[in-house]
Amino acid sequence: MRVLVVHGPNLDLLGEREPEIYGTRTLAELNESIAAAAEDLGADVRCEQHNGEGAIVDALHAARKSCDAVVINPGAYAHYSYAIADAIAAIGIPVVEVHLSNVAAREAFRRTSVTAAACRAVISGFGPAGYVLALRALGEIVSRER
Ligand code: DQA
Repeated sequence: MRVLVVHGPNLDLLGEREPEIYGTRTLAELNESIAAAAEDLGADVRCEQHNGEGAIVDALHAARKSCDAVVINPGAYAHYSYAIADAIAAIGIPVVEVHLSNVAAREAFRRTSVTAAACRAVISGFGPAGYVLALRALGEIVSRER
């Protein structure tokens, strides 16, 4: 299974950004734990971080040819980017949305995700473990649907 993990805007600042909400682990450390989980699963996982909406759309388009599935944390774009929602719907491979924080328990604007509607599933509130859970679930989905 080949998986693209997309970290959206401001996630490059993990570790220093609002650590009481997002924890103290840096993006590099998060990517290390994703790589370890990928090795356990025998999956080929590539991680990218993009602050721009267009770059995320481009990454999703590229994944439709090169990957079996996508894990995406769209960051704040989750709450309003119809362009990313459309890209997720367009690529025809399973996409799981992950949020580090429990967005349902935060400000009202975070309780809506327009991208989630285009995804297979959403995992929110488990911190970095959410990415590992998403990879495991995708392993099952991809082998079942192959
Ligand atoms: C986030 C939640 C979003 O509301 C926020 O804008 C982020 C991070 C999360 O991982 O909890 O940037 O996606």
